[in-house]
Amino acid sequence: MSAVAMSRKLLGLAQSRVLASMSLVKLKLKPPVVRQLEIGSGPVRKDGWVTLDMCRGADVFWDMRRPLPFADASFDRVYCSHVLEHFAHRDLKRLLQQVLRILRPGGRFLVAVPDASLYIDAYLKRSDASDLLRYRPAVVSGQPMDVLNYIFYMDDQHRFMFDRDNLAHHCREAGFERCAPRAFDPEVDSAARDYESLYMVCHKPEAA
Ligand SMILES: C[S@@+](CC[C@H](N)C(=O)[O-])C[C@H]1O[C@@H](n2cnc3c(N)ncnc32)[C@H](O)[C@@H]1O
Repeated sequence: MSAVAMSRKLLGLAQSRVLASMSLVKLKLKPPVVRQLEIGSGPVRKDGWVTLDMCRGADVFWDMRRPLPFADASFDRVYCSHVLEHFAHRDLKRLLQQVLRILRPGGRFLVAVPDASLYIDAYLKRSDASDLLRYRPAVVSGQPMDVLNYIFYMDDQHRFMFDRDNLAHHCREAGFERCAPRAFDPEVDSAARDYESLYMVCHKPEAA
């Protein structure tokens, strides 16, 4: 890595630390009053929700590889759209446990992720996948394998893939129960991502 790239990286890390510390102070002074949290929201604010992301523009700047900065049972609902696939398995496990912790007993975790089985089907059937391959930097060769490299690596952004069964499995393993597919919900889900999304709802046990 060049000296310039190294100093940019260090500067970025230092900025992230400062922004995360500022978020922590803000949360201490003014804990959230709303009971719904969107994690990996992108740079957005939403009425009735706390948004959290590792980017400026969300209510809380936070790297979710660290424990989430909220007390136990702080939220009734936690939502994430196209986020879990960005975490390596070890970080994913910790994140799901953290989501469970900050939900109240009986609270709901609403998830949307890309459905890897759509891409695998397209590869096996050699069908036209052009409608799936919308993020052009991740389409590299025009070969059938593009469709698998696209969804599994996404230009180095994706770390873990899901179908309906393993999404439910990993959520159950973290302590959730009644993990079931759900329909597109216009209140929370993105119509623009519907073509490739798998939706699930999981519950925190009442007794937890
Ligand atoms: C594909 S985008 C999805 C954004 C939005 N939820 C949507 O559906 O359009 C993934 C989001 O996860 C966030 N993200 C990825 N890793 C993260 C981490 N370790 N901590 C916090 N946010 C992270 C990214 O910054 C990005 O906003």
